[in-house]
Amino acid sequence: MRVLKDVDVDELHLFRGRVVEDVVSSTGSLLLPKGSEIQAVLESVPGITKTLKRWGVYKVMLDVSFNISEEDFNKIIENIEPKIRVLEAALAQNTITQVDEVYRRISENGSLGEGAYMLARQAALLTEEVTRAPQILLCLGRVRDSDEYTFVHSLNVGLLCGYLAGRLKPGDREFAASMTYGGLLHDLGKAKVPQQVLNKPGKLTEKEYEMMKAHSIYGDEIARSSGISDVRVLSVIRNHHERWGGHGYPDGLQKNSIPLFARIAAVADVFDALTAKRVYKNPLSSREAVSMILESSENDFDKGVVRELLLSVGLYPAGTLVELSDFSVGVVVGARNTDLFRPQVSVTIDGKGRRAPEGTIVDLGLQQDLFVRRALDDVGKGVAYSEKAG
Ligand SMILES: [Fe+2]
Repeated sequence: MRVLKDVDVDELHLFRGRVVEDVVSSTGSLLLPKGSEIQAVLESVPGITKTLKRWGVYKVMLDVSFNISEEDFNKIIENIEPKIRVLEAALAQNTITQVDEVYRRISENGSLGEGAYMLARQAALLTEEVTRAPQILLCLGRVRDSDEYTFVHSLNVGLLCGYLAGRLKPGDREFAASMTYGGLLHDLGKAKVPQQVLNKPGKLTEKEYEMMKAHSIYGDEIARSSGISDVRVLSVIRNHHERWGGHGYPDGLQKNSIPLFARIAAVADVFDALTAKRVYKNPLSSREAVSMILESSENDFDKGVVRELLLSVGLYPAGTLVELSDFSVGVVVGARNTDLFRPQVSVTIDGKGRRAPEGTIVDLGLQQDLFVRRALDDVGKGVAYSEKAG
């Protein structure tokens, strides 16, 4: 992302970035050449701010995009996964395989059969994990693979549902486990929606959309006929597309008449669907996804549930570029403990704008004198112009 900012001359020392256009005096002499590093100029030409003001220049347009190369950024991201993947790869893979299996059984026999029991047990295991180490939520989606989209999405929604349930009713393990189970199964009705509708690129026709929407009712029917009677699980499956304002489906329920279970699942489902795009062409960071959900929370979601989402995953998820209070810049690589407000940061540029030694990790959980000053996307606030690259 390219971020330009019109900076007050007196505040230039606070910024790191390059001058966007030549700044010339009224007599034509070059005061600041285009492309120069503002910090380097300030250091090598003391008094430059006075000179600028003398010529009536009070603002300078800077390109404040952080200059971490794509290569560096990818290297950091690659390192993130092993550091924060607290969710056992085998546990994740097992769950994905089991959800896959359940879908296959439904397509073949119209019922979950034994899959229901296996998945319920898996849900209990996942709930244990997420309760013990909530930071696994920071890496939701990193195990994603396009072929397995539905199954990985189910795993993520399960984890998020369980986690949010735990936040909303602390200590109620049974509730959290049921919600995880419901999350794993929430879209099972899609097993009965034709593949060409599910995978159709582009806009669905009216008729196709109706077929798609039917997945919530199919899911409810399949779950009941498979012997699932837990009302929490059934609500998640049937009502996760209901919206606060009453414009959802299939029952058009509104506000608190939507069961809490379904309100939780709605938030988890949308959040994961939005962030899923990051692996494909159109990445949405967790921060962006949370702000989108916040924006529509008036009409679409239960605000109490959204608040929990914001507190848990919305602040500084892994991969967020952040500036710390000492002006160093780095990428969030995870959270060491349960305090997601104080993540670990892989610092790439130190407080003086120099490249930090490779592998510099600052753990805000330990270094209480430092804090996150802003996330990279906050830089965009008040900018004159910004554009997404690529
Ligand atoms: Fe759905």
